[in-house]
Formats: sequence, C-alpha cells, structure tokens
Amino acid sequence: MSSTKTILLESSSSPMKSEVREVKIRSYQNRDFESCREIFTQGMEQLVGRATRVVLPKYCGVLVALSVLVILAAVKWTSWMLAYYVFFCVVLLALLYIYIYIECWRFIKECLATDLYNIEKTYMSGDGSHMWVAEFDGKVVGMVGLVVYNHKPGVAELQRMSVSPVCRRMGIAKKLLDELLQHAKEQRFDKLVLTTTSAQTPAIRLYKKWGFRLIDVFPYPQKILADLQYLCFGLEL
Ligand SMILES: CC(C)(COP(=O)(O)OP(=O)(O)OC[C@H]1O[C@@H](n2cnc3c(N)ncnc32)[C@H](O)[C@@H]1OP(=O)(O)O)[C@@H](O)C(=O)NCCC(=O)NCCS
Repeated sequence: MSSTKTILLESSSSPMKSEVREVKIRSYQNRDFESCREIFTQGMEQLVGRATRVVLPKYCGVLVALSVLVILAAVKWTSWMLAYYVFFCVVLLALLYIYIYIECWRFIKECLATDLYNIEKTYMSGDGSHMWVAEFDGKVVGMVGLVVYNHKPGVAELQRMSVSPVCRRMGIAKKLLDELLQHAKEQRFDKLVLTTTSAQTPAIRLYKKWGFRLIDVFPYPQKILADLQYLCFGLEL
C-alpha cells in the first residue's frame, strides 16, 4: 500500500513573518535508504547519554558510600588515598560509559545489518509489513516501520520509530504513528506490540499517549546494565 499525507506546520522562527512548511508522510521508497539508516543511527546514538543517566545513579551511590571509608583511611594513613580513589572513580565511570557506548553501537550495527540492510525486502514485500517516512523541506526527517514476522497471526510489531533531532517536538512522530495505526486497522491486525528501553522516555510518553499498555518488563541481559530495562508495550486494535 502506498500513501502520502501532508501536514502544514507554522514556523514562527522569524517574528516578522510566519511561513507555512510542509511535512509529508509517505511510504518508504528506495531513494530513502541512506536517510533512514542515518536517522535511525542518530536516534539510537542519543540512547548512550540517556542510558548512562539511568544506570549511573546505582554506581555513584556505591562510590559515594565507599568514599566515607576512603576518607577515614586517608585521615589515618595518607591523603594520597583520596587522590587514588578519585582517579579510580573517574576511570570506573569512564569505562561504564564506554561499555554503554559499545552496547549501543552493537545494537545499531545489528539493525543496520538485518532489517535496515534491505528495507525494501523487510518492510515493503506486501505481507502487511510497511515503512513510512516523514519528509520536511524535501528531506527525510522521520521514519517508522511495522513488521509481521516472528509474531502470531494478527499481531504486528512497530519498530525503528525515529525523528531527526532538529525536527523533534513538531508532531512528526504522532503523524507517523497515526499513519501506521490506520494501516494496521486496514490490514485487520488485532494487536500491535513494540519493545523499547526505560531510557527512551520521550518514546514511552508517546506510546502511552496513543493507548499502548505496558505488558512486560525485563532487565537488560548484561548484569552491569540491569537497571536499563526492556519495556514491552501492546495495543489492542
Ligand atoms: C520518540 C521520538 C520519535 C518522538 O518524536 P517527535 O516527532 O519529537 O514526537 P512528537 O513531536 O510527535 O511528540 C509526540 C508525543 O511524544 C512525547 N514526547 C516527544 N518528545 C518528548 C520529550 N522530549 N519529552 C517528553 N515527551 C516527549 C509527548 O507525549 C508528545 O506529545 P505532546 O507533544 O502532545 O506532549 C523522538 O524523540 C526520537 O526519535 N527519539 C530517538 C529515537 C527513539 O527513542 N525512538 C523510539 C524507539 S522505540
């Protein structure tokens, strides 16, 4: 199914004039390949910072608690212990950040090498799967996909929702989601599912607003990042 929808956005960047700019929601085409891979990568790269903020408090708590012991030891023996401890904390937190960065890139690479390697085949082969893009000022600035593989009949999965950082909070994800929901109803799916992480708070708010309900929560497989949870959402259609 091919579709094109246009949204008019008021831009008030200039106080003198307000220009009307168009966001077009349409089906994925082969020429969107590089843009989609880039928008997805940009969105996931930002997960590094967000995931660090989720995981860090537990480690900082332990380090602060330990610092009491280190201060006592430094008073009793040598103040150098304090300097060593600060160095140890900085190295530990840097390693944690690098670990999260590597994990994030592992996921990005996996997606780029699987469903986003041949978008046409994965999403546009006519089995109910589909991908939409949002076009703004002639550029692709958003995407979302729906896939049916690996699921029971009647169930489809929303994935790869991403909007270019410069075009966020303009209602583009809402429009992509509206388009996806309309398609899912037309295809007579009974249920939509999706998985995200507890670090993706804007996305969680978006999905909850559209009626998705939390159906499962499980910790990140690597124990070191267990605070970063996977959240599975479902929406009965
Ligand atoms: C999540 C994402 C797609 C939202 O795109 P967007 O075009 O900025 O979203 P919209 O402007 O359509 O906003 C829709 C709703 O999402 C929620 N939302 C979006 N950005 C938000 C933010 N920064 N903080 C809080 N809520 C936010 C709000 O509920 C918003 O509704 P409202 O404007 O009525 O409050 C975008 O932030 C993104 O690409 N993030 C990185 C990739 C990602 O995490 N994808 C999800 C994979 S599961």
